[in-house]
Amino acid sequence: MNKLISNNIHKSFEMGDDSLVVLNDINLTINENDSVAITGASGAGKSSFLHILAGLDKPTSGNIYFNDFDLSLLSNNRLSQIRLENFGFVYQFHHLLEDLTVEENIFMPALINKSLDNEKKLIVKDIMRSLDIYKRKNHLPWKLSGGEKQRTALARALINNPKFLFLDEPTGNLDYENSLIIQNLLFEMSNKYGIALITATHDNKFLKSFNKVYKLKDSKLSVIDE
Ligand SMILES: Nc1ncnc2c1ncn2[C@@H]1O[C@H](COP(=O)(O)OP(=O)(O)O)[C@@H](O)[C@H]1O
Ligand SMILES: [Mg+2]
Repeated sequence: MNKLISNNIHKSFEMGDDSLVVLNDINLTINENDSVAITGASGAGKSSFLHILAGLDKPTSGNIYFNDFDLSLLSNNRLSQIRLENFGFVYQFHHLLEDLTVEENIFMPALINKSLDNEKKLIVKDIMRSLDIYKRKNHLPWKLSGGEKQRTALARALINNPKFLFLDEPTGNLDYENSLIIQNLLFEMSNKYGIALITATHDNKFLKSFNKVYKLKDSKLSVIDE
């Protein structure tokens, strides 16, 4: 059973003589099959926390455990390898590479860890069909709508069959209709491939779909619904 644990996480940013405390003693366990939402006002520390959980940034103190690994003890190479094989990340802004096609963008994480084989290409075809971007596979990102770009970013995050998928305000830039499409697809993909979701959002309607909801406020994490 895959597990991701945040143990006494603190994060502060040094600004001259001042220290801005963003996360203060955050403890959270995320199990396989969990769907977790993290809410909180802008500036509350949601992105900082997601980046630390996903091993993209280091805490000031505390540990993140992924199964038997303490992420802080791993070399950078080993950490990237673990991230590529187990974690997917979707940002508010899609961050697609503009001179690669939709399909090439989706292939990228598999090219990086040299796992792009015919079987994976078939899975990508299936994912593109499920996300309704298959007909766009040979197009460059600038030709896509906002919703299609975000669905491409979601497909890219799914290609290595992650166990944990992190989403930082994935619907923050979309209109109502496209937000709903992304929300539904997220849970459909999570159920189909058995992926835990960890989503930062302040869309209250979206929160109802998650089995655990937490709020970041004054650098502390509290439970809203569990
Ligand atoms: N690299 C950084 N250096 C200094 N301050 C930062 C840095 N990253 C984030 N912050 C500050 O930390 C706080 C939390 O930011 P963030 O995690 O982005 O919040 P949220 O995602 O909830 O809007 C904000 O006050 C932000 O300005
Ligand atoms: Mg943020």
